[in-house]
Amino acid sequence: MCGIVGYVGKEQAAPILLDGLSKLEYRGYDSAGMAVYDGDKIVINKTTGRLKVLSELTHDGATMPGNIGIGHTRWATHGEPSEVNAHPHFNENRTIAVVHNGIIENYQKLRNILVERGYKFRSETDTEVVAHLLDYYYNKYDKDPLTALVKVIHRVEGSYALGILFADHPDVVYAVRKDSPLIVGQSEEGNLIASDVPAVLKYTRDVFFIENGEIARLTKDTIAFYNVDGEPIEKQSKHIDWDINAAEKNGYEHFMLKEIYEQPKAVRDTISPRIKDNDIVIEELGMTDEEIREIKKIYIVACGSAYHTGVTCKYIFEGLARIPVEVDLASEFRYRNPILEDGTLVIIISQSGETADSLAALRLAKEQGIKTLGIVNVVGSSIAREADKVMYTWAGPEIAVATTKAYSCQLVAQYLLALKFAKARGKITEDELKEYLHEMEMLPNQIEILLGNKEKIQKFANRYVAAKDVFFIGRGIDYAISLEGSLKLKEISYIHSEAYAAGELKHGTISLIEDGTLVTAVVTQEELYKKTISNIVEVKTRGAYVLAVTNEDNPDIERTVDSVIYIPKTNKYFTNSLAIIPLQLFAYYVSVGKGLDVDKPRNLAKSVTVE
Ligand code: F6R
Repeated sequence: MCGIVGYVGKEQAAPILLDGLSKLEYRGYDSAGMAVYDGDKIVINKTTGRLKVLSELTHDGATMPGNIGIGHTRWATHGEPSEVNAHPHFNENRTIAVVHNGIIENYQKLRNILVERGYKFRSETDTEVVAHLLDYYYNKYDKDPLTALVKVIHRVEGSYALGILFADHPDVVYAVRKDSPLIVGQSEEGNLIASDVPAVLKYTRDVFFIENGEIARLTKDTIAFYNVDGEPIEKQSKHIDWDINAAEKNGYEHFMLKEIYEQPKAVRDTISPRIKDNDIVIEELGMTDEEIREIKKIYIVACGSAYHTGVTCKYIFEGLARIPVEVDLASEFRYRNPILEDGTLVIIISQSGETADSLAALRLAKEQGIKTLGIVNVVGSSIAREADKVMYTWAGPEIAVATTKAYSCQLVAQYLLALKFAKARGKITEDELKEYLHEMEMLPNQIEILLGNKEKIQKFANRYVAAKDVFFIGRGIDYAISLEGSLKLKEISYIHSEAYAAGELKHGTISLIEDGTLVTAVVTQEELYKKTISNIVEVKTRGAYVLAVTNEDNPDIERTVDSVIYIPKTNKYFTNSLAIIPLQLFAYYVSVGKGLDVDKPRNLAKSVTVE
């Protein structure tokens, strides 16, 4: 995800672009840039870091005069966050400037062709091909911007929302989209483009929603639309009456809820590019099957929720690939002098890629000559840069402090790795792999089904806003799910909560159970079903109220527990991806019910860069 804006009108463009970008920072914030036509040429300023760095650099836009411009806030995909990779990108003589949200999938092929034609590339981005390709067609077809743009969109594959300036046409902003959002705002003072409505609401509530393949041409007092072949089309504007804050969250009350609802897409984006012809292709792993067979042991090292994904995936790596796995909290691993022998792979998991303890653990492993793999969400972050190999989760920016969609992506990234390792080591057949992949590919839709049933959880959560203690129990993978369910609840609701391996209750914890104590029992592992039921009976006997989260083919459980949430049927290794959804929603609604700051719980930060 990235955010793009554009403006042409009576006012100075740069402050308007900065203001629009500030409403889009939720779409990305690793670098930012603007291009403005100053009456003579296109002037470009770009920097790494948050938008405020760009604001400071340009004195809130004051140093960039001109009434027309485009801007960008980046969430890196191709090429690390750096000044050169930041947008806008431009052609050799800086007469065409481009901002882009999306991914040009065939950029490498196009880049090779353009290099053969003498074009020089500065950045590692996919976007730069658009600038050079526009230059090529612009010069080839009588310097006509619309024709050049039509030619370009017939050559590029992938997704894009583009904003474009041509120095030869200094009163026009062009824009086009395919599979990335784009809107056009119409106002008396000027016209705007943006990735999302909040960026224009300060100036107008009359908005055109651009559809796939549509092109927009904006001047200060005209807006024209064209189809994918450059033929004029008519469009109707819509009047927006949303509240500005709600709009930024896409109508959701909090970023956390928005991110919970983004999970089907995030999971799909993480899985799909890596499944090809019933096989798993993780090019970035850079390991041959021979090298995978040589792995003797895996350490999964992480903090908080990322650590919980490791606890789950230990069962999966061991169960499927038969590789011994140790899961460590990074803060422990770094100081416990771990025995790291040849043939060990250390996997560091981190959403931010900046967590101090995880980074230190990575460095420790590297110092000892051990192979490291980062599973990271933020492209170009420290862990992504320093790990020998990096596998990205494609969750997009996560704003709420409590992780949800990044957690879900970390899980599926590890499922893919475990399956790949299992296949390479001959522990599963091609047919079995096909079946696992089929079940993995169903997860996004199944998550959607669970999200569709939020009312029951919401009602249930409202009953527990005054709870003093809540317990989560489960065995095996269900224990790992419990750890995450418990953390979600306590961190945003401030209710004391603990997770226990269900078989461990009798060794002390059961004395905490009182009349009415809520115990959430996760029961998705069929072979452990009866054992966990026994533990449920034990807590019920002592007065607990039990909510079970179980598979839809276990209706008998209703005879034992007080309330049930069913999850759709999936492979036993993948149940975490489904069972966690109601637990995230439960935590969210308890926090909302208590009137707390859901997105920014007290004492916590999104990225823990101190130990
Ligand atoms: C909890 C949460 C944290 C993070 C932990 C690691 O909801 O978000 O427990 O999982 O701080 O952060 P990253 O993944 O950025 O290393």
